[in-house]
Amino acid sequence: MKSENAMNLVKVNEKPLRLLRPTPVYLLVTGSIPDNDINIMALSWLTPISKNPPKIGIVIDKSNYSHGLLIRYKWFSLAVVDLDMADIVKYVGTHSRREEDKIEKVNLEIIPWSNDPRIPILNNVLGLLICKVEAIIDFTSSTLFISKIEEAYARDGYFNVKNGWNIEKAKILLHKAKHSFVTVCNEKMIIKTPWGIAIKKPWRAKFERRKENSKDKKRKRSN
Ligand SMILES: Cc1cc2nc3c(=O)[nH]c(=O)nc-3n(C[C@H](O)[C@H](O)[C@H](O)COP(=O)(O)O)c2cc1C
Repeated sequence: MKSENAMNLVKVNEKPLRLLRPTPVYLLVTGSIPDNDINIMALSWLTPISKNPPKIGIVIDKSNYSHGLLIRYKWFSLAVVDLDMADIVKYVGTHSRREEDKIEKVNLEIIPWSNDPRIPILNNVLGLLICKVEAIIDFTSSTLFISKIEEAYARDGYFNVKNGWNIEKAKILLHKAKHSFVTVCNEKMIIKTPWGIAIKKPWRAKFERRKENSKDKKRKRSN
């Protein structure tokens, strides 16, 4: 058996979870509009749990103000945001509602969800999941909230059900480490299928080429 050194590996036991990043970071909004108790925080501890019905699990530290709101109201919305929101995500992920009203501070617009106006959602985001908490699993310092996705929305023209996000347009925010955020890049698209691996040309390059070809054709026709 080969040793770690022979495999070119070094031990990084002090931050093992960082090996699993970058991962998307979302804005979690929870609370109640009629009770005027609404909060926002950054969230990246999320896992899909089932496809049908669609369920996710989110893990919340018990020290967070949002934890109490989730236990009380058992509803939340989760917003997918882009790289331009990194500063806001960092702010709401490092400050607590216990000290200040973060929604006012970062100047985000909260609107009532049309299906149930008690539930607060964020306006002007890339994507939105509205979730109902179905089971609560207690750990020592955190809680896993198993939740059903009741409704899902995506910004028009940025997502399609067949191919998912148009990543070049959407610039989905990912958290890399500490205060460092990145987005996915569409330099190359590598698609692995049972028949082999296909490397696709960048989407924009393909689009530009198509545009040039049609211009050439028009020019030839007019000459
Ligand atoms: C990128 C990022 C991701 C985070 N993900 C989580 C998470 O998944 N679960 C969690 O409990 N806290 C997470 N946090 C920390 C909370 O957002 C943070 O403790 C926040 O201040 C809680 O706000 P609140 O007390 O107003 O609820 C994250 C912070 C950052 C910056």
